[in-house]
Amino acid sequence: MNELVKILCVGDVIGSPGLILFSKHISALKKEFSIDATIVNGENSAVNGRGITSLAANELLRSGADFITGGNHSFDQREVYETLSNLDFPLLRPANFPAGCPGRGVGFVSLPNGHKIGVINLQGRIFSRQQLECPFKALDSILTFVRSQTNIIIVDFHAEATSEKAGFAYFADGRVSAIFGTHTHVQTADERILPNGTGFITDIGMIGALNSMIGMKKDPIIHNMRTQLPVKFEVDTEPPFVISGIVFTIEKTSGKTVAIERIFKTYQQ
Ligand SMILES: [Fe+2]
Ligand SMILES: [Fe+2]
Repeated sequence: MNELVKILCVGDVIGSPGLILFSKHISALKKEFSIDATIVNGENSAVNGRGITSLAANELLRSGADFITGGNHSFDQREVYETLSNLDFPLLRPANFPAGCPGRGVGFVSLPNGHKIGVINLQGRIFSRQQLECPFKALDSILTFVRSQTNIIIVDFHAEATSEKAGFAYFADGRVSAIFGTHTHVQTADERILPNGTGFITDIGMIGALNSMIGMKKDPIIHNMRTQLPVKFEVDTEPPFVISGIVFTIEKTSGKTVAIERIFKTYQQ
């Protein structure tokens, strides 16, 4: 019988409510879905939702994350640069940032049962304010190394445009086990297994206040949209909250996704 590995991917974690929700509920979710490894996008897990701090990263790991990925907000907090640079610390930032940025975009999770999982973090370029290297080329060069270590490979593709996410997923289909999109904080309902066995969802969503805008208080944002005046974005702390993500079931031998299940759960606290 083929051995299966179940991987839970959640995020983006938005500010202190996101961090609290993750800490409170992730163990139960892992139990419910018999999860072997958990990957969380933590690029907004700092208390104010801007970037990630070492404190937030440690809290995510303590609560049950095996690896933390990032995105365009990975470098918002200077304090985290040292943690990003620690190669023993399971925190990634997109691999296609220019050379010289702290941190790395590839890591491995070793599970107690001997499974090794490769985790890759990349960022899209469409609508990105940051000038990044081509994520398609970056994947090609990274895969040679990662595939020499394991054939269970998960990619967090952090991008705005659905077209770029789909293009990237079809490009990587059959060469990685699964790809989950992050960054929009809005979950898409297009989860599926691509023709060559790669599990894919355009965006997994977020962990934060449900009736918010990307986890932030909506009223200032609406005011900005109506008047074009600058406003301060503040993390929304009002219930109900949502934890959204995806579970990939991957066959160990082939490295292919055999089942995919979307998660969208609401909580009062
Ligand atoms: Fe985000
Ligand atoms: Fe982002």
